[in-house]
Amino acid sequence: MTPPLLSVESIDTYYAESHILFGVSLVVDVGECVSLIGRNGAGKTTTFRSIIGLTQPRSGRVLLNGQPIQGLAPHLVARRGVGFVPEDRAIFPSLSVWENLDVAYKPSADGQSHWTTERVYEVFPRLAERRNQPGGTLSGGEQQMLTIARTLMGNPALLLLDEPSEGLAPLIVEIIGGLIARLKNEGVTILMAEQNLPFSLALADRAYVVDDGRVQFSGTNDELRARPDVIQRYLGI
Ligand SMILES: Nc1ncnc2c1ncn2[C@@H]1O[C@H](COP(=O)(O)OP(=O)(O)OP(=O)(O)O)[C@@H](O)[C@H]1O
Ligand SMILES: [Mg+2]
Repeated sequence: MTPPLLSVESIDTYYAESHILFGVSLVVDVGECVSLIGRNGAGKTTTFRSIIGLTQPRSGRVLLNGQPIQGLAPHLVARRGVGFVPEDRAIFPSLSVWENLDVAYKPSADGQSHWTTERVYEVFPRLAERRNQPGGTLSGGEQQMLTIARTLMGNPALLLLDEPSEGLAPLIVEIIGGLIARLKNEGVTILMAEQNLPFSLALADRAYVVDDGRVQFSGTNDELRARPDVIQRYLGI
């Protein structure tokens, strides 16, 4: 039996003595788009930090293709094929769009590199138009595109998107949603943290709802839609 691409098994994570994640478990299979939905402070970013080794879980396991990766330094987790798009859109402001992409290029762990600047420009025409513009002069939505595109240039097996719709105008959120849908069609495996329920339901195949550092619900979008009590209690909608 093939193991899931990502398997998080009952992790507990702390910041110093603050206990933040309590037995969080989740799986993502190849080709899936899965959402991790929760309000501010629920533990979404901490879950991502635990996966990529920025904050090591104190217990539990994180497996990539069945191989344990917990305890590895972040650059080694990245080398295994986990690409992380942070909330804060940390691009190089003085480098051009093209330079931002070029410095991020890395062949995939299996040597099959799908993403190059040409492929990125096909999927993100807006970035192609602005290829010579300094990253810092892009709009918020364009910077979000560039952060996602830059991570793709590392040819990850798994893309972790931390709140891709956050702080963007509704029209831009729609454009980013369209891009994520396109990536899904290209076969990119995605785990996406979000507070935006309609955005998550429109894009992901299934969802985990987190609150207070715990997975409070997991199921398909239809199963989540059928649980207004879960939506009301943990997402406050
Ligand atoms: N470096 C830190 N030190 C101590 N506590 C932290 C630290 N980072 C986050 N926390 C706390 O951990 C909890 C979970 O935070 P986390 O950033 O994972 O939430 P989140 O779901 O990503 O929220 P948001 O939607 O606001 O990004 C919060 O209570 C937060 O205050
Ligand atoms: Mg967060």
